[in-house]
Amino acid sequence: MPIKGRFMNGTIVPIIAGNWKMNGLIEQLAEISNLDNMLEQMQHKAGHIIICPPATLLNMAKKCAKYGQISFGGQNCHWEERGAHTGDISAEMLADCGALYVILGHSERRMEHGETDEIVQKKVGAAFRAKLTPIICVGESEKERKANMAVEKVLSQIKNSLPSEAKNNKIIIAYEPIWAIGTGLVPTLDEIKEMHQKIREQLVNLFGEHGMQYPILYGGSMKPDNAKNILSIKNVNGGLVGGASLKTSEFIKIIKALDEI
Ligand code: 13P
Repeated sequence: MPIKGRFMNGTIVPIIAGNWKMNGLIEQLAEISNLDNMLEQMQHKAGHIIICPPATLLNMAKKCAKYGQISFGGQNCHWEERGAHTGDISAEMLADCGALYVILGHSERRMEHGETDEIVQKKVGAAFRAKLTPIICVGESEKERKANMAVEKVLSQIKNSLPSEAKNNKIIIAYEPIWAIGTGLVPTLDEIKEMHQKIREQLVNLFGEHGMQYPILYGGSMKPDNAKNILSIKNVNGGLVGGASLKTSEFIKIIKALDEI
């Protein structure tokens, strides 16, 4: 795939991923076919587009994207392959439905379901087992940001949420400051730049030159009007978009921002 703009010399293909969270009934699949059509018509080549719908829609969503312009992911998985875990979904089941990715360690799961770094690490291992690429979320709370602990928190989450096998697998990191999710608040461009630089250094510390290859996405109130500025920052290799990914008319504007960089 020819990569345009500032990414031409780098090896990281930019990614725009939509996290639908617990939103979407069957009728919203029209958004997927619309997006797939638009991307096909635009001959979009500036980046890789992923949608993570609720698991109930995954299989149908894949079928709706008939031009294959969109890849799909789950939003969570269990660490076991199968068994007595009522209500859970394994990485293998997501792969079976057409997923290539899985979001892991999202702050909403860390907070609402008590997911620790240790649990996230086991889930990352499960993703590798099922040949899924994990999108591992990290991010500080407002309190930690105010106490100047943001970098420390995020770097420790990275160290403790990634198993050593990450070295031999594809991973994607998503930096999502908790206070920016769904609030309309966004860190300054300098704050994002600093955090992504620190994350890059941490990945290189942990995984040597492999650490240079892993995409680092920004997430938290990414919208059409701030996407271009955020996506232009060094070491920001794309975005993980919540609310603005639900409507194709909004999401496509964020995708198009990649073309303007
Ligand atoms: P919003 O874009 O709605 O702030 O959500 C970000 C997010 O949590 C993506 O995973």
